[in-house]
Amino acid sequence: MLAIQTKKALIKKLQSLPNNKHLGLVPTMGALHQGHASLIKKSVQENSHTVVSVFVNPTQFNNTEDLEKYPKTLDADVSLIKEINPEIIVFTPTAKEVYDTGIHAKIYDFNGLDKVMEGAFREGHFNGVGTIVEALLTLIKPNKAYFGEKDFQQLRIIQKLTEIQKIPIEIVGCPIVREAHGLAMSSRNERLDPILRQKAGFIYETLHTAKQKFGTENAANIKELVTVKFAKHPDFKLEYFEITDVTTLTPIKEKINNTKYRAFIAVFADGIRLIDNVALN
Ligand code: PAJ
Repeated sequence: MLAIQTKKALIKKLQSLPNNKHLGLVPTMGALHQGHASLIKKSVQENSHTVVSVFVNPTQFNNTEDLEKYPKTLDADVSLIKEINPEIIVFTPTAKEVYDTGIHAKIYDFNGLDKVMEGAFREGHFNGVGTIVEALLTLIKPNKAYFGEKDFQQLRIIQKLTEIQKIPIEIVGCPIVREAHGLAMSSRNERLDPILRQKAGFIYETLHTAKQKFGTENAANIKELVTVKFAKHPDFKLEYFEITDVTTLTPIKEKINNTKYRAFIAVFADGIRLIDNVALN
């Protein structure tokens, strides 16, 4: 299996597939791990054909250093995909190929979903994500596309994107895959030194404590508890901890019956930014 690099070659490949095909798309930025693999396996199970895109999208990085340091492991990525199923179509375009009209993001109105958490701390991030995902969906026209709950806010924004741009597709959310000690798998974990990586199980432990407290304590107390836990920890710097409504992503004021909530966290470990989240009820 060779990776396809141009839109023209990809369209040709897609046109050669049967008319009654059911196509799944898994967009990624590469440096693939078992979290990505879980999405790819689900797509292979649920569709007759699967496309995995591997593209480090420059318009979603608000920090040049983060973009430059983003791990690139294309050969290993292709092997991992091929081991899942050799028929999977791998699309690895260049930025010029994707952004033929210039490398900039479109501006979307995501109805406030992009104003909190990742959107508040990474300016322009979700316009970049929206731009690349819309471009991939328009080009590939999959029946289903797969996104991880690891980036739960991104998943909600992609659902909103397909609604506002009227893209006929099913967006499938997939559960978070974790390392043995609880740390959510991430391409960025590779940049942590092994001792710190082991200690980073603390992030999920804290989310787990928040979940246990959610039944009895109010949100302000839980936020305080998490803030204190991190203030006392020498290795991690808390950027934000929020409890929000899963649909609107607005921070909780007081618990409302029949509403689902999630806790979200962003933490720096040795300058490396890690995010995670957990369902609370
Ligand atoms: P990337 O970080 O490579 O992630 C690709 C997909 O894998 C996303 O949907 C992400 O949520 C999912 N994923 C990552 N780690 C996971 C884990 N531990 N468990 C479950 N799913 C996991 O997210 C992006 O790339 C980009 O923003 C992209 C959507 C490709 C647009 O450029």
